Amino acid sequence: MAKVEVDLSAIPEGKNVIIKWRGKPVFIRHRTEGEIKEAESVKVESLRDPQQDSERVKKPEWLIMLGVCTHLGCVPIGEAGDYGGWFCPCHGSHYDISGRVRRGPAPLNLEVPEYEFPEDGKLVIG
Ligand code: FES
Repeated sequence: MAKVEVDLSAIPEGKNVIIKWRGKPVFIRHRTEGEIKEAESVKVESLRDPQQDSERVKKPEWLIMLGVCTHLGCVPIGEAGDYGGWFCPCHGSHYDISGRVRRGPAPLNLEVPEYEFPEDGKLVIG
């Protein structure tokens, strides 16, 4: 299956990049210290799809996930919504800075694809 290589050095802290992989958008966020702390401090028991932030990332500063809303597949908007992450304008699902659903009709967190960091500054998705 096709893999996509991404140069992470081109993505500054606090920025989102969207790439295409297998015809789907993939969100890459270079998270700040503050965002990582916020993501890690959420009480997982309170979540609809309970997942620790550490289960969703391999390196805390890099959040990689499919940009496909788990409700009906729209593409959520970055740096939007009430939880500091993404907002799906189709029916109003809010995702946090770990991509976990916090409000709205989406049943699940944004999906994390297979990926690896073969070397510093390089990401391979797929
Ligand atoms: Fe995202 Fe419905 S498709 S809220």
